[in-house]
Amino acid sequence: MKSTICVVGSGAREHALALTLAKSCEKVIVAPGNPGMASNLGAADGPSSNESGTISITDLPPEAIEASLYVIGPEVPLVEGLADKLRSLGKKVVGPGADGARLEGSKIWMKEILTKSGVPTAHFGVFDEFERARRYLKEMKGPWVIKTDGLAAGKGVLVTDSLAHAIEDVRSKLSGESFGAAGTKVVIEEYMEGLELSLMVLTDGKKLAPLSPARDAKRVFDNDEGANTGGMGAFSPVPLESGESMDKLVDNAMELAVEPLLGRLIKDGIEYRGVLYAGLILTEEGPKVVEYNIRFGDPETQAILPRLEGDLVSLLDQVATGHLTAEPRFSPNRCVNVVLSAPGYPESPKVGEPIEINREKLGNSQVFFAGVTQSEDGTLLTSGGRVMSVSALGDNLIEARENAYRSIEGIGFEGMHFRRDIGLLAGELELTSEST
Ligand code: GLY
Repeated sequence: MKSTICVVGSGAREHALALTLAKSCEKVIVAPGNPGMASNLGAADGPSSNESGTISITDLPPEAIEASLYVIGPEVPLVEGLADKLRSLGKKVVGPGADGARLEGSKIWMKEILTKSGVPTAHFGVFDEFERARRYLKEMKGPWVIKTDGLAAGKGVLVTDSLAHAIEDVRSKLSGESFGAAGTKVVIEEYMEGLELSLMVLTDGKKLAPLSPARDAKRVFDNDEGANTGGMGAFSPVPLESGESMDKLVDNAMELAVEPLLGRLIKDGIEYRGVLYAGLILTEEGPKVVEYNIRFGDPETQAILPRLEGDLVSLLDQVATGHLTAEPRFSPNRCVNVVLSAPGYPESPKVGEPIEINREKLGNSQVFFAGVTQSEDGTLLTSGGRVMSVSALGDNLIEARENAYRSIEGIGFEGMHFRRDIGLLAGELELTSEST
Protein backbone atom coordinates (compact mmCIF):
# COMPACT_ATOMS: atom_id res chain seq x y z
CA MET A 1 0.00 0.00 0.00
CA LYS A 2 2.98 2.36 0.49
CA SER A 3 3.34 3.59 -3.05
CA THR A 4 2.76 6.65 -5.19
CA ILE A 5 1.55 6.27 -8.76
CA CYS A 6 1.70 9.06 -11.33
CA VAL A 7 -1.02 9.11 -13.99
CA VAL A 8 -0.33 11.42 -16.94
CA GLY A 9 -3.32 13.11 -18.57
CA SER A 10 -6.38 15.14 -17.68
CA GLY A 11 -9.47 13.34 -18.95
CA ALA A 12 -12.11 10.91 -17.73
CA ARG A 13 -9.92 7.95 -18.74
CA GLU A 14 -7.16 9.19 -16.44
CA HIS A 15 -9.70 9.76 -13.66
CA ALA A 16 -10.95 6.16 -14.04
CA LEU A 17 -7.35 4.93 -13.94
CA ALA A 18 -6.61 7.06 -10.87
CA LEU A 19 -9.68 5.85 -8.96
CA THR A 20 -8.92 2.21 -9.75
CA LEU A 21 -5.21 2.51 -8.91
CA ALA A 22 -6.03 4.36 -5.68
CA LYS A 23 -7.73 1.18 -4.41
CA SER A 24 -4.32 -0.41 -3.98
CA CYS A 25 -1.81 2.34 -3.40
CA GLU A 26 -1.27 5.15 -0.97
CA LYS A 27 -1.32 8.06 -3.34
CA VAL A 28 -2.14 8.82 -6.97
CA ILE A 29 -0.85 12.06 -8.49
CA VAL A 30 -2.43 13.04 -11.80
CA ALA A 31 -0.39 15.36 -14.01
CA PRO A 32 -1.95 17.71 -14.91
CA GLY A 33 -5.36 16.19 -14.08
CA ASN A 34 -8.36 18.43 -13.50
CA PRO A 35 -9.94 19.86 -10.32
CA GLY A 36 -12.82 17.35 -10.46
CA MET A 37 -10.38 14.51 -9.83
CA ALA A 38 -9.20 16.07 -6.58
CA SER A 39 -12.78 16.80 -5.45
CA ASN A 40 -13.35 13.22 -4.31
CA LEU A 41 -16.78 13.29 -5.93
CA GLY A 42 -15.93 10.50 -8.35
CA ALA A 43 -15.67 7.38 -6.20
CA ALA A 44 -18.70 5.12 -6.10
CA ASP A 45 -18.78 5.33 -2.31
CA GLY A 46 -18.30 9.08 -2.25
CA PRO A 47 -16.20 11.35 -0.11
CA SER A 48 -16.55 9.14 2.96
CA SER A 49 -14.40 6.41 1.42
CA ASN A 50 -11.36 5.86 3.60
CA GLU A 51 -10.08 2.63 2.14
CA SER A 52 -8.58 4.13 -0.98
CA GLY A 53 -5.40 6.11 -1.41
CA THR A 54 -5.63 9.84 -2.05
CA ILE A 55 -5.87 11.44 -5.49
CA SER A 56 -4.25 14.81 -6.10
CA ILE A 57 -3.39 16.86 -9.17
CA THR A 58 -0.25 18.81 -10.03
CA ASP A 59 1.11 21.23 -12.61
CA LEU A 60 4.56 19.67 -12.31
CA PRO A 61 5.86 17.76 -15.33
CA PRO A 62 5.79 13.96 -14.79
CA GLU A 63 9.60 13.73 -14.67
CA ALA A 64 9.59 16.05 -11.63
CA ILE A 65 7.25 13.74 -9.69
CA GLU A 66 8.61 11.00 -7.41
CA ALA A 67 6.51 7.92 -8.11
CA SER A 68 7.00 4.16 -8.16
CA LEU A 69 5.01 3.76 -11.40
CA TYR A 70 4.02 6.10 -14.26
CA VAL A 71 0.91 5.41 -16.34
CA ILE A 72 0.67 7.58 -19.46
CA GLY A 73 -2.93 8.07 -20.64
CA PRO A 74 -3.01 10.05 -23.92
CA GLU A 75 -1.26 9.32 -27.20
CA VAL A 76 0.43 12.71 -27.73
CA PRO A 77 3.02 12.46 -24.90
CA LEU A 78 3.71 8.86 -25.91
CA VAL A 79 4.35 9.84 -29.52
CA GLU A 80 6.54 12.69 -28.28
CA GLY A 81 8.71 10.25 -26.31
CA LEU A 82 7.65 10.83 -22.68
CA ALA A 83 7.96 7.10 -21.87
CA ASP A 84 11.55 7.09 -23.18
CA LYS A 85 12.40 10.18 -21.14
CA LEU A 86 11.01 8.65 -17.92
CA ARG A 87 12.71 5.30 -18.58
CA SER A 88 16.02 7.07 -19.13
CA LEU A 89 15.60 8.41 -15.57
CA GLY A 90 15.17 4.84 -14.32
CA LYS A 91 11.38 5.05 -13.86
CA LYS A 92 8.86 2.22 -14.33
CA VAL A 93 6.48 3.21 -17.09
CA VAL A 94 3.27 1.87 -18.67
CA GLY A 95 3.29 3.05 -22.27
CA PRO A 96 5.44 2.46 -25.36
CA GLY A 97 8.49 4.48 -26.31
CA ALA A 98 8.38 6.75 -29.36
CA ASP A 99 9.35 3.81 -31.63
CA GLY A 100 6.29 1.70 -30.69
CA ALA A 101 4.09 4.81 -30.45
CA ARG A 102 4.40 5.26 -34.23
CA LEU A 103 1.64 2.66 -34.39
CA GLU A 104 -0.79 5.46 -33.57
CA GLY A 105 1.39 8.44 -34.52
CA SER A 106 1.49 7.45 -38.20
CA LYS A 107 -1.42 5.66 -39.88
CA ILE A 108 0.87 4.81 -42.79
CA TRP A 109 3.39 3.13 -40.49
CA MET A 110 0.54 1.26 -38.79
CA LYS A 111 -0.90 -0.02 -42.08
CA GLU A 112 2.55 -1.07 -43.27
CA ILE A 113 3.40 -3.01 -40.11
CA LEU A 114 -0.03 -4.67 -40.09
CA THR A 115 0.51 -5.75 -43.70
CA LYS A 116 4.02 -7.06 -42.91
CA SER A 117 2.61 -8.98 -39.92
CA GLY A 118 -0.21 -10.53 -41.97
CA VAL A 119 -2.88 -8.94 -39.74
CA PRO A 120 -6.26 -8.70 -41.52
CA THR A 121 -7.06 -5.06 -42.28
CA ALA A 122 -8.73 -2.99 -45.02
CA HIS A 123 -7.00 -2.64 -48.42
CA PHE A 124 -5.45 0.78 -48.67
CA GLY A 125 -3.39 3.27 -50.62
CA VAL A 126 -1.05 6.00 -49.38
CA PHE A 127 -1.07 9.45 -51.01
CA ASP A 128 0.72 12.77 -50.77
CA GLU A 129 -0.34 14.08 -54.16
CA PHE A 130 -3.89 15.16 -55.01
CA GLU A 131 -4.32 13.96 -58.62
CA ARG A 132 -3.24 10.38 -57.84
CA ALA A 133 -5.48 10.34 -54.76
CA ARG A 134 -8.43 11.65 -56.77
CA ARG A 135 -8.00 8.92 -59.44
CA TYR A 136 -7.80 6.26 -56.70
CA LEU A 137 -11.00 7.53 -55.09
CA LYS A 138 -12.81 7.49 -58.44
CA GLU A 139 -11.71 3.93 -59.16
CA MET A 140 -12.89 2.51 -55.83
CA LYS A 141 -16.47 1.97 -54.75
CA GLY A 142 -17.83 3.84 -51.72
CA PRO A 143 -18.26 4.43 -48.89
CA TRP A 144 -14.87 6.18 -48.88
CA VAL A 145 -12.59 6.18 -45.84
CA ILE A 146 -9.86 8.85 -45.63
CA LYS A 147 -7.43 9.16 -42.72
CA THR A 148 -4.74 11.72 -41.95
CA ASP A 149 -1.37 10.06 -41.49
CA GLY A 150 -0.56 12.00 -38.30
CA LEU A 151 -2.41 12.60 -35.05
CA ALA A 152 -5.53 14.75 -35.37
CA ALA A 153 -7.23 14.41 -31.95
CA GLY A 154 -9.61 11.75 -33.30
CA LYS A 155 -10.91 14.11 -36.00
CA GLY A 156 -8.73 13.06 -38.93
CA VAL A 157 -10.96 10.26 -40.23
CA LEU A 158 -13.73 10.82 -42.76
CA VAL A 159 -16.18 8.08 -43.75
CA THR A 160 -18.54 9.27 -46.48
CA ASP A 161 -21.01 7.99 -49.09
CA SER A 162 -20.29 10.99 -51.29
CA LEU A 163 -17.42 10.87 -53.79
CA ALA A 164 -17.48 14.68 -54.05
CA HIS A 165 -17.12 14.98 -50.26
CA ALA A 166 -14.27 12.44 -50.30
CA ILE A 167 -12.41 14.35 -53.03
CA GLU A 168 -12.84 17.67 -51.22
CA ASP A 169 -11.68 16.09 -47.94
CA VAL A 170 -8.53 14.73 -49.59
CA ARG A 171 -7.85 18.09 -51.20
CA SER A 172 -8.13 20.00 -47.93
CA LYS A 173 -6.07 17.41 -46.04
CA LEU A 174 -3.24 17.18 -48.58
CA SER A 175 -3.01 20.96 -48.95
CA GLY A 176 -2.47 21.24 -45.18
CA GLU A 177 -5.62 23.36 -44.92
CA SER A 178 -7.56 21.12 -42.54
CA PHE A 179 -4.94 19.41 -40.36
CA GLY A 180 -1.62 21.10 -41.12
CA ALA A 181 1.35 18.73 -41.41
CA ALA A 182 -0.65 15.83 -39.86
CA GLY A 183 -2.79 15.68 -43.02
CA THR A 184 -0.33 16.23 -45.86
CA LYS A 185 -0.16 12.46 -46.32
CA VAL A 186 -3.34 10.37 -46.21
CA VAL A 187 -4.39 6.75 -46.13
CA ILE A 188 -7.41 5.94 -48.29
CA GLU A 189 -8.91 2.57 -47.51
CA GLU A 190 -11.85 0.32 -48.29
CA TYR A 191 -14.87 0.51 -46.01
CA MET A 192 -15.41 -2.53 -43.81
CA GLU A 193 -18.94 -3.57 -42.91
CA GLY A 194 -19.70 -4.92 -39.44
CA LEU A 195 -20.01 -4.12 -35.74
CA GLU A 196 -17.07 -2.58 -33.92
CA LEU A 197 -15.24 -4.05 -30.98
CA SER A 198 -12.48 -2.47 -28.90
CA LEU A 199 -9.99 -5.03 -27.64
CA MET A 200 -7.34 -3.65 -25.30
CA VAL A 201 -4.44 -5.91 -24.52
CA LEU A 202 -1.77 -5.38 -21.86
CA THR A 203 1.73 -6.35 -22.86
CA ASP A 204 5.13 -6.34 -21.19
CA GLY A 205 6.78 -6.68 -24.59
CA LYS A 206 6.69 -10.49 -24.55
CA LYS A 207 3.40 -11.65 -23.07
CA LEU A 208 -0.11 -10.51 -23.86
CA ALA A 209 -3.10 -10.25 -21.51
CA PRO A 210 -6.43 -9.12 -23.01
CA LEU A 211 -8.89 -6.99 -21.07
CA SER A 212 -12.62 -7.55 -21.32
CA PRO A 213 -13.90 -6.18 -24.67
CA ALA A 214 -15.96 -3.01 -24.95
CA ARG A 215 -17.74 -0.97 -27.61
CA ASP A 216 -17.82 2.82 -27.78
CA ALA A 217 -20.32 5.21 -29.38
CA LYS A 218 -18.55 7.79 -31.52
CA ARG A 219 -21.32 9.95 -33.01
CA VAL A 220 -22.75 12.86 -31.07
CA PHE A 221 -26.46 11.99 -31.37
CA ASP A 222 -28.63 8.92 -30.75
CA ASN A 223 -28.83 6.26 -33.48
CA ASP A 224 -25.22 7.03 -34.44
CA GLU A 225 -26.17 10.31 -36.08
CA GLY A 226 -24.25 13.59 -36.26
CA ALA A 227 -20.56 14.40 -36.09
CA ASN A 228 -17.81 12.08 -34.94
CA THR A 229 -16.64 12.82 -31.40
CA GLY A 230 -13.99 11.62 -29.00
CA GLY A 231 -16.68 9.22 -27.70
CA MET A 232 -20.14 9.67 -26.19
CA GLY A 233 -20.22 6.50 -24.12
CA ALA A 234 -19.27 2.85 -24.00
CA PHE A 235 -20.29 -0.47 -22.51
CA SER A 236 -18.61 -3.69 -21.49
CA PRO A 237 -18.77 -6.61 -22.01
CA VAL A 238 -20.18 -6.84 -25.54
CA PRO A 239 -22.98 -9.35 -26.19
CA LEU A 240 -22.95 -11.43 -29.36
CA GLU A 241 -25.71 -13.24 -31.23
CA SER A 242 -26.94 -16.48 -29.64
CA GLY A 243 -24.53 -19.33 -30.08
CA GLU A 244 -21.48 -17.10 -30.52
CA SER A 245 -18.82 -17.08 -27.82
CA MET A 246 -16.91 -13.92 -26.87
CA ASP A 247 -14.07 -16.01 -25.43
CA LYS A 248 -13.63 -17.70 -28.80
CA LEU A 249 -13.84 -14.39 -30.60
CA VAL A 250 -11.16 -12.88 -28.35
CA ASP A 251 -8.92 -15.95 -28.83
CA ASN A 252 -9.38 -15.63 -32.58
CA ALA A 253 -8.64 -11.89 -32.58
CA MET A 254 -5.55 -12.43 -30.42
CA GLU A 255 -4.28 -15.08 -32.85
CA LEU A 256 -5.06 -13.14 -36.03
CA ALA A 257 -4.52 -9.54 -35.03
CA VAL A 258 -2.48 -9.12 -31.86
CA GLU A 259 0.09 -11.94 -31.58
CA PRO A 260 1.48 -11.43 -35.13
CA LEU A 261 1.82 -7.70 -34.50
CA LEU A 262 3.71 -8.19 -31.23
CA GLY A 263 5.92 -10.78 -32.98
CA ARG A 264 6.75 -8.22 -35.65
CA LEU A 265 7.49 -5.48 -33.09
CA ILE A 266 9.89 -7.85 -31.33
CA LYS A 267 11.58 -8.75 -34.65
CA ASP A 268 11.98 -5.06 -35.41
CA GLY A 269 13.68 -4.54 -32.04
CA ILE A 270 10.82 -2.53 -30.53
CA GLU A 271 10.24 -3.25 -26.84
CA TYR A 272 6.59 -2.38 -26.30
CA ARG A 273 5.35 -2.17 -22.71
CA GLY A 274 1.86 -0.82 -22.35
CA VAL A 275 -1.52 -1.23 -24.01
CA LEU A 276 -2.10 -2.48 -27.55
CA TYR A 277 -5.62 -1.35 -28.37
CA ALA A 278 -7.03 -3.11 -31.42
CA GLY A 279 -10.03 -1.36 -32.96
CA LEU A 280 -11.75 -4.26 -34.71
CA ILE A 281 -14.62 -4.66 -37.15
CA LEU A 282 -16.44 -7.97 -36.93
CA THR A 283 -16.81 -8.63 -40.65
CA GLU A 284 -18.40 -11.69 -42.26
CA GLU A 285 -14.87 -12.94 -42.93
CA GLY A 286 -13.85 -12.56 -39.29
CA PRO A 287 -12.35 -9.76 -37.20
CA LYS A 288 -10.31 -7.16 -39.07
CA VAL A 289 -8.29 -4.26 -37.69
CA VAL A 290 -9.54 -0.73 -38.39
CA GLU A 291 -6.77 0.83 -36.36
CA TYR A 292 -4.36 0.32 -33.51
CA ASN A 293 -4.04 2.73 -30.61
CA ILE A 294 -1.13 2.73 -28.20
CA ARG A 295 -3.00 3.46 -24.98
CA PHE A 296 -6.13 2.79 -22.97
CA GLY A 297 -9.28 3.65 -24.94
CA ASP A 298 -11.43 6.58 -23.96
CA PRO A 299 -14.29 6.08 -23.01
CA GLU A 300 -13.91 2.26 -23.10
CA THR A 301 -11.61 2.30 -20.06
CA GLN A 302 -14.37 3.97 -18.02
CA ALA A 303 -16.66 1.00 -18.84
CA ILE A 304 -14.06 -1.72 -18.29
CA LEU A 305 -12.22 -0.73 -15.11
CA PRO A 306 -15.33 -0.75 -12.86
CA ARG A 307 -15.56 -4.49 -13.70
CA LEU A 308 -11.90 -5.26 -12.97
CA GLU A 309 -11.36 -7.67 -10.10
CA GLY A 310 -8.02 -7.60 -8.34
CA ASP A 311 -5.25 -5.13 -8.21
CA LEU A 312 -4.56 -2.78 -11.12
CA VAL A 313 -1.35 -1.53 -9.49
CA SER A 314 0.30 -4.93 -9.51
CA LEU A 315 -1.00 -5.70 -13.02
CA LEU A 316 0.46 -2.48 -14.44
CA ASP A 317 3.65 -2.91 -12.43
CA GLN A 318 4.13 -6.27 -14.16
CA VAL A 319 3.60 -4.57 -17.53
CA ALA A 320 6.15 -1.88 -16.74
CA THR A 321 8.82 -4.25 -15.41
CA GLY A 322 8.51 -6.87 -18.17
CA HIS A 323 7.19 -9.59 -15.86
CA LEU A 324 3.56 -9.95 -16.89
CA THR A 325 2.21 -13.17 -15.36
CA ALA A 326 -1.24 -12.17 -14.05
CA GLU A 327 -4.37 -12.51 -16.16
CA PRO A 328 -6.83 -9.66 -15.70
CA ARG A 329 -10.13 -10.89 -14.26
CA PHE A 330 -13.50 -9.17 -14.58
CA SER A 331 -16.77 -9.40 -12.68
CA PRO A 332 -19.70 -10.84 -14.64
CA ASN A 333 -21.45 -7.48 -14.14
CA ARG A 334 -22.20 -5.23 -17.07
CA CYS A 335 -21.04 -1.62 -17.12
CA VAL A 336 -22.45 1.32 -19.07
CA ASN A 337 -20.62 4.64 -19.33
CA VAL A 338 -22.44 7.79 -20.55
CA VAL A 339 -20.56 10.97 -21.45
CA LEU A 340 -22.07 14.36 -20.54
CA SER A 341 -20.97 16.97 -23.03
CA ALA A 342 -21.17 20.75 -23.31
CA PRO A 343 -23.73 22.26 -25.73
CA GLY A 344 -22.22 22.70 -29.20
CA TYR A 345 -19.78 19.79 -28.79
CA PRO A 346 -17.85 18.72 -30.86
CA GLU A 347 -17.74 21.76 -33.21
CA SER A 348 -17.85 24.66 -30.75
CA PRO A 349 -18.59 23.68 -27.16
CA LYS A 350 -19.94 26.42 -24.92
CA VAL A 351 -18.10 26.28 -21.59
CA GLY A 352 -17.84 28.12 -18.27
CA GLU A 353 -21.11 26.83 -16.80
CA PRO A 354 -21.35 25.79 -13.11
CA ILE A 355 -21.85 22.06 -12.55
CA GLU A 356 -24.31 20.86 -9.92
CA ILE A 357 -23.96 17.38 -8.50
CA ASN A 358 -26.30 15.72 -6.05
CA ARG A 359 -24.06 12.95 -4.68
CA GLU A 360 -27.04 11.19 -3.03
CA LYS A 361 -28.65 10.67 -6.42
CA LEU A 362 -25.51 9.14 -7.90
CA GLY A 363 -25.97 5.97 -5.85
CA ASN A 364 -23.24 3.48 -6.65
CA SER A 365 -22.30 5.08 -9.96
CA GLN A 366 -18.82 6.42 -10.54
CA VAL A 367 -18.26 9.90 -11.94
CA PHE A 368 -15.19 10.62 -14.05
CA PHE A 369 -14.29 14.25 -14.68
CA ALA A 370 -12.74 15.53 -17.92
CA GLY A 371 -13.39 19.08 -19.20
CA VAL A 372 -13.80 20.82 -15.84
CA THR A 373 -12.12 23.68 -14.03
CA GLN A 374 -12.80 25.38 -10.71
CA SER A 375 -13.87 28.92 -9.84
CA GLU A 376 -12.27 30.84 -6.97
CA ASP A 377 -15.09 29.84 -4.63
CA GLY A 378 -14.50 26.16 -5.42
CA THR A 379 -17.44 25.61 -7.81
CA LEU A 380 -16.70 23.16 -10.62
CA LEU A 381 -17.21 24.75 -14.04
CA THR A 382 -17.36 23.22 -17.51
CA SER A 383 -14.17 23.88 -19.50
CA GLY A 384 -14.17 21.40 -22.37
CA GLY A 385 -16.47 19.57 -24.78
CA ARG A 386 -16.58 16.27 -22.93
CA VAL A 387 -17.25 17.50 -19.42
CA MET A 388 -17.60 14.30 -17.42
CA SER A 389 -19.07 10.83 -17.58
CA VAL A 390 -20.97 8.40 -15.42
CA SER A 391 -20.41 4.64 -15.19
CA ALA A 392 -22.88 2.25 -13.60
CA LEU A 393 -22.94 -1.49 -13.11
CA GLY A 394 -25.85 -3.90 -13.41
CA ASP A 395 -26.60 -7.60 -13.71
CA ASN A 396 -27.33 -6.99 -17.38
CA LEU A 397 -26.82 -4.08 -19.78
CA ILE A 398 -30.41 -2.86 -19.49
CA GLU A 399 -30.06 -2.64 -15.70
CA ALA A 400 -26.64 -0.97 -15.98
CA ARG A 401 -28.18 1.56 -18.38
CA GLU A 402 -31.06 2.29 -15.99
CA ASN A 403 -28.60 2.85 -13.15
CA ALA A 404 -26.40 5.14 -15.25
CA TYR A 405 -29.29 7.25 -16.55
CA ARG A 406 -30.86 7.49 -13.06
CA SER A 407 -27.57 8.84 -11.70
CA ILE A 408 -27.39 11.44 -14.45
CA GLU A 409 -30.60 12.94 -13.00
CA GLY A 410 -28.38 14.09 -10.11
CA ILE A 411 -26.06 16.09 -12.39
CA GLY A 412 -26.78 19.32 -14.20
CA PHE A 413 -25.20 22.18 -16.10
CA GLU A 414 -26.61 24.60 -18.66
CA GLY A 415 -27.16 22.88 -22.02
CA MET A 416 -25.88 19.46 -20.82
CA HIS A 417 -26.05 16.94 -23.66
CA PHE A 418 -25.81 13.16 -23.57
CA ARG A 419 -26.87 10.25 -25.70
CA ARG A 420 -29.82 8.29 -24.42
CA ASP A 421 -29.13 5.10 -26.34
CA ILE A 422 -25.75 3.94 -24.99
CA GLY A 423 -25.87 0.16 -24.78
CA LEU A 424 -29.54 0.06 -25.80
CA LEU A 425 -29.36 -2.24 -28.85
CA ALA A 426 -26.71 -4.38 -27.19
CA GLY A 427 -28.87 -4.62 -24.05
CA GLU A 428 -31.81 -5.83 -26.13
CA LEU A 429 -29.58 -8.32 -27.95
CA GLU A 430 -28.27 -9.57 -24.63
CA LEU A 431 -31.81 -10.26 -23.36
CA THR A 432 -32.79 -12.06 -26.58
CA SER A 433 -29.67 -14.14 -26.83
CA GLU A 434 -29.96 -15.12 -23.15
CA SER A 435 -33.55 -16.26 -23.64
CA THR A 436 -32.92 -18.42 -26.72
N1 GLY B 1 -12.57 5.22 -28.14
C1 GLY B 1 -11.64 5.42 -29.15
C2 GLY B 1 -10.29 5.81 -28.70
O1 GLY B 1 -9.96 5.71 -27.54
O2 GLY B 1 -9.50 6.21 -29.53
